Amino acid sequence: MARIALVTGGTRGIGAAIAVGLRDAGCTVAATYGGNDVAAEAFKAETGIAVYKWDVGDFAACQAGVAQVEADLGPVDILVNNAGITRDGTLHRMSPENWRAVIATNLDSIFNMTRNVIEGMRARGFGRVISIASINGQKGQIGQANYSAAKAGVFGFTKAVAQENAAKGITVNAVAPGYIATEMVRAVPEEVIKSKILPHIPVGRLGEPEEVARCVTFLASEEAGFITGSTLTANGGQYMT
Ligand code: CAA
Repeated sequence: MARIALVTGGTRGIGAAIAVGLRDAGCTVAATYGGNDVAAEAFKAETGIAVYKWDVGDFAACQAGVAQVEADLGPVDILVNNAGITRDGTLHRMSPENWRAVIATNLDSIFNMTRNVIEGMRARGFGRVISIASINGQKGQIGQANYSAAKAGVFGFTKAVAQENAAKGITVNAVAPGYIATEMVRAVPEEVIKSKILPHIPVGRLGEPEEVARCVTFLASEEAGFITGSTLTANGGQYMT
């Protein structure tokens, strides 16, 4: 797959596995990150993948960032909207700041990034937009009114934009991971993971980032051209839609 791919939040966790997976499939990859310079530099040194720093919640930053990636590497064929944060807390304790931060990074970003690559994809007649949603956007989750709302929004965006671009060689899909062994899940209290999460995963374990990355590599491939507006779920059987 000799394509140019851009992965947001691509230097750590699921995004890093996706960036490496696309590179291994033959793509030239750009990985963006929001703040952790040390992790990004280590990722770049280890993988040789180009890294870029900007806030995906900021439209102008995305516009400038995409322009820089395209100047350096070429037009973006594959966009993976992966960047995401959690600010967990039950609604009756949630601050407006924690609501807004999650909506900005996890949902505004989907517009900010896709808007800045879609015209080029339409002009060239090829594109892949893959957004990482979540099981918690499908079923809702205690402590995640903000995150569940943002991730649920990803599904609506995906279906609308898939229809708009189906005749232009562009597919738009979502991947909905369950609980994957990353720093984000490790931030959940150990007791909650043991007593409230693991017992509900029929496969009996957390997922691995590479298991999500393989879903993305598949959807990004030429062979997946008939799949659009869909959600590929990888959650160990925890929630079946
Ligand atoms: N599943 C089921 N029940 C949960 C739960 C979960 N994941 N998390 C908390 N609960 C329960 C608590 O055990 C508690 O129940 P009991 O009263 O019976 O003990 C109840 O919900 C409410 O908890 P608290 O009163 O302690 O509420 P709080 O306002 O202090 O908030 C919390 C605590 C923020 C919800 C904390 O428990 C937490 O972080 N939970 C994990 C939430 C979660 O699953 N986040 C997913 C992060 S990973 C991710 O987001 C990636 C992805 O896409 C899957």
